[in-house]
Amino acid sequence: MTDKPTVAFAKFAAPKKGSVIVLAPEGGDLGQAAAAADPAGVLPKVFAAAEFKGKLAGTVEALAPHGTDYDRLAAIGMGKPAALNEQAWLQIGGAAAAAARNATEVTVIADAAGLEPSARDIANIGLGILLRAYVFDKYKTRKEENGVKQPKNRKDVTFTIQCADPGAARKAFAEASAVADGVYLARDLVNEPANVLGPVEFAAKAKELEGLGVKVEILTEKEMKKLGMGALLGVAQGSVRPPRLVVTQWNGGKQKQKPVAFVGKGVVFDTGGISIKPAASMEDMKGDMAGAAAVVGVMHALAARKAKTNAVGIIGLVENMPDGNAQRPGDIVTSMSGQTIEIINTDAEGRLVLADALWYCKEEYKPQFMVNLATLTGAIIIALGNSHAGLFSNDDALSEHLTAAGLATGEKVWRMPLGSEYDKLIDTKNADMKNTGGRSAGSITAAQFLKRFVDDTPWAHLDVAGTAMGSPSSEINQSWASGFGVRLLDRLVADHYER
Ligand code: BES
Ligand code: MN
Ligand code: ZN
Repeated sequence: MTDKPTVAFAKFAAPKKGSVIVLAPEGGDLGQAAAAADPAGVLPKVFAAAEFKGKLAGTVEALAPHGTDYDRLAAIGMGKPAALNEQAWLQIGGAAAAAARNATEVTVIADAAGLEPSARDIANIGLGILLRAYVFDKYKTRKEENGVKQPKNRKDVTFTIQCADPGAARKAFAEASAVADGVYLARDLVNEPANVLGPVEFAAKAKELEGLGVKVEILTEKEMKKLGMGALLGVAQGSVRPPRLVVTQWNGGKQKQKPVAFVGKGVVFDTGGISIKPAASMEDMKGDMAGAAAVVGVMHALAARKAKTNAVGIIGLVENMPDGNAQRPGDIVTSMSGQTIEIINTDAEGRLVLADALWYCKEEYKPQFMVNLATLTGAIIIALGNSHAGLFSNDDALSEHLTAAGLATGEKVWRMPLGSEYDKLIDTKNADMKNTGGRSAGSITAAQFLKRFVDDTPWAHLDVAGTAMGSPSSEINQSWASGFGVRLLDRLVADHYER
């Protein structure tokens, strides 16, 4: 996993060197500890000169400030105190990580006059720092950016957050840090190129969850054949790299609690197959396993923070390639459910993988609900852009829980409709269904297809094509891969499905 910086907690004390960062509320004064860190009173002058008013995540800095041995003294805006919610604290942390630049010793003084951040708020500053500090640069042999030498190892960078109750903050941060690890893992998997990360290699990565006490089972082609997974196998047959189905289980709940289940699309590369994609941006299709990456990431988070729940994570890993053995448009395959599918477009492959993964999940584990994540359709990007994932569900309570978890974490979802009018668009004369429904309502017909493989199990499908990768960089993510879904699902579990 990509190295992350260390986040430590301490009581207020005068910092000695490195980068020092204070927080400044909009329309308020610096706190006592913050003012003490600026003995020569440099900041008030900097604020005036830069017209800095404390806008959320805004930043100003003074280099080698008078009266100190620091390299830099920066202030991060906190915005209006009344608007300080979870996401604001994350953004403050993100802005602090950015303001620290290349320092290895960073002190964040989390003090603002009249505001007393809770342990959770402080932990969220720490989480924001970690999320912002993520950089995928393992293939860069010259680690310089804009001529500025980066610290060789992010491990060597320490952020010390000064606060009123470091013990409580440390405790709250332990959970946040476990979740950050899950996000790092998901981002790493999505950023990794497909020549390095095929189905077998991805499965090996998932196997590493065993180190956290997760049970991991890997099904090979032979076993999937025996189970009758003709839909998933049809996609895989054009690649020289064999498919895998990985089942991960975290049993932290009561013995007889039915598990919650997460299912991920893991197409390690999607050329489109015989219905081949155009060349422009095809390289992005190395991220077509972002759903699977989020599932592995959330399983990591749940296990690392010892969540009191039973969870199953299932990922279908294939490569969609065109070769002499690839499936053709017009082919008819039989899924594990027994339902037959006419392949109209080999580029609508994700739903084929999920059809068998969902059915297997439901049959084998009888979960209390299933949430699947998939970079399923380009159409969801047209509908919702990069700031909401599409949510499709047969269950209102599950939808509401997901929507609330999205608003809390900032990994937002927006519910889209399902209905028989859409469902009939995937009927065909030649088989039980076809794998595409035409140009209109492309994301919905894809969801209707999945719905035919869940029976009555409460289920939600998250189309993350617009949110898992290629989102504009933000205060808490500068990487192509966002790790979308890890924090969302971790929160879903934490708020509703832990004993
Ligand atoms: N992996 C793609 C969807 C996608 C597109 C993800 C852009 C991320 C960015 C998926 O397998 C696909 O090709 N979907 C087709 C479906 C169509 C053939 C019905 C699409 O969206 O065009
Ligand atoms: Mn495709
Ligand atoms: Zn795809």
